[in-house]
Order: sequence, then C-alpha cells, then structure tokens
Amino acid sequence: MTRVTVELAAASYDILIEPGAFRRSDQHLARFARADRLLAVTDEGVAAHWLAPLREQLAGAGIALDAFVVPQGEQAKSWDWLERLTGWLLDRGAERGGHVLALGGGVVGDLTGFAAGIVKRGCGFVQLPTTLLAQVDSSVGGKTAINTPAGKNLVGLFHQPAFVLIDPEVLATLPARQLRAGWAEVVKYGLIDDPAFFTWCEANRAAFFAGEPAVRAEAIERSVRAKARIVAADERETTGVRALLNLGHTFGHALEAETGFSERLLHGEAVAAGMALAFRYSARRGECDAAEAERAATLLAASGLPTTLVQAGVDANGAALTAHMRHDKKMTGGALPFLLARGIGRAWLAHDVALDDVSAFLDRERRRG
Ligand code: GLY
Repeated sequence: MTRVTVELAAASYDILIEPGAFRRSDQHLARFARADRLLAVTDEGVAAHWLAPLREQLAGAGIALDAFVVPQGEQAKSWDWLERLTGWLLDRGAERGGHVLALGGGVVGDLTGFAAGIVKRGCGFVQLPTTLLAQVDSSVGGKTAINTPAGKNLVGLFHQPAFVLIDPEVLATLPARQLRAGWAEVVKYGLIDDPAFFTWCEANRAAFFAGEPAVRAEAIERSVRAKARIVAADERETTGVRALLNLGHTFGHALEAETGFSERLLHGEAVAAGMALAFRYSARRGECDAAEAERAATLLAASGLPTTLVQAGVDANGAALTAHMRHDKKMTGGALPFLLARGIGRAWLAHDVALDDVSAFLDRERRRG
C-alpha cells in the first residue's frame, strides 16, 4: 500500500494505491457515508463489473450504495447528463459536507467532479478510477469539465477530490487498447522531466503489459507522485509548471479533433502520437537531438501506440490540423503556448511557435508511414 499526498494550500488530499482495495471498499469508504448511505456515479461498463461487489461490501458495513449510471463514452460529458446528475444528487439529498463517489474512467470523474463542484456550491467527491489513464492522470489534480458544441472540456471547474483510491488490480479487466492508451500518459511523466523514469519504462514495458503486479503498481505510483508534485506546484495552471502535463496534447488535440473525438483515436493514443510529433518538431527546430526524438517514438511504438499521422489514422494536411490548434483553449492573445522538448525528460513551454511552421512540419510528417 502506498499513500501519496497532494499538498495544496486549501486542502491537501491523499491518493491511496493498494492492490485489492476495491475488494475492501468498506474499509476505505465507510468514513464518507452519511446516514449509512453513499452516493456513487458510474457508467454502464464499470457498473457491470464493480457495482454489485462494492454494494455488497458496503452493505456488510451497514452502508447502502445508491448509484447513478451514465452511458459509456464522451457523450456523458454533456449539459444533458450534467443536468440529470445534478438533479439526481439534489433529489438524493447530497450535502455540502458530504461526498459523491466517482467510480469509473476519466469521463465519469470529470462529470462527477463538475456536478459535485456546483451542487449546493460545492459538495465533496472521491475518485475511484477504473482505467489506467484515470489512475495516473485525470483522477488527480481536480480538473473537471463537460464538452460543449464549441469543444472538449470547455466548461468546467477546478474542484479537487477529497480522496483518490486506486486499485491496480482493476486493470485486469481493462481492454488492452485502453491499457495502452493509459500507458502513453505514464511514459509522458518520464518524457516531461524524469529521464530515469523513462529508462524504467523502457526496461519494464513488457512486464507492465504482461500484468506483473509489482511493475504495474510502481508505474502507477511513480506517475501519481509526478502528477501530485506538479499539481502542488501549480494547482490552477497559472505558472507554466502544470502546463508541462500537456506535452503531446496540442498535436494530440488536433488529431482528436480531426477524428471527431471518437473511438477512432483514443485520447491516450492521440497523446502518444502528439508526443512523438512534439519531439520530432523540436528536432526540426534544432532544439532536440534527433536520436532522442527517435528514442521517445521507439518506446511508444513498441507499446503498440501510434507515433505518426498515418498510424493515428489521420489524413489531413498541416493547414487543417493547425486550424484545430487555433481553437485550442490554451490560445492566449493570438499565441498558442506549445510544449516542446530539448531531450528525454527536458520538456519546456515555448511561446514563440509559429503555427505556419507547424503546418509545414505536419505536411512533411504526412509522408511518414
Ligand atoms: N491532464 C492535465 C492536467 O491535469 O493538468
């Protein structure tokens, strides 16, 4: 069992990583019950695996679990589901001092955190992430949001959870493609500022995908420690430190937009291709050794992740892709801060990137297989 604390001025909170924790949920969650009742939000897929066992464990402790189930996928991050969920929480008597459980991946966590943040001007919530991506990234740090016709995650709040409970064993039932997509965010922490962790990822990739428990737990723990450190340094992404977590996301976002934010390209897959592109673009600018860019892409490709436009299933030119970037929510005063790299573990935030140059780079990248 490992405990990582996210140190924040207003309210620090713990992330507990414990293999088998979801088989002992009563021990971890009973303290959040009110009048022997807990409210949970989950999706149809996760409910099929986890709702009955959690209900049973909590019932054993005399706690009734009342659940709101949303459909699987991004469609749940909508005004419609936010309205239904806030209505349900009010109907069930959610209280300011109480806590709502978010049992699921990033979609459930983002929607639940947002709903909890606005019901009665702010209820507490607890993250129970069930995907690797949610465990190592979205469940930690308090970014919550829904999507709107204008774009993804454009309406939301910073609202930190009160507790994050991670059970690495839940990954046993995660589809392989989702596991690979989450692994891209694990590798990201090495690429940002921890070359030793990147080397560890290279050495332990095969064991991770083979399901070696100690390796899975270590990958999660090291990622969560990195995320907690970065969030503690810049909770609201104002100083540029937290922006480092967006490595690969500007290119990735354009690829996701081009593929309709759909199952055609998962977020983690887009981030993998985006990181490979960010490294190659950094090499094109002469700021990163081409061999380092190659090494970053090699690990991602060996992990079964896309590292080129073709592999990401994107057949668009530079002009079309940079048009998506111009709508990025990070755009300020007509300029787009851009995450580049001087090498493995040496990401930095550039403010001088000309999108026309990015467009020319992407036109060349289109020819890469
Ligand atoms: N996933 C990026 C962040 O939490 O800031």
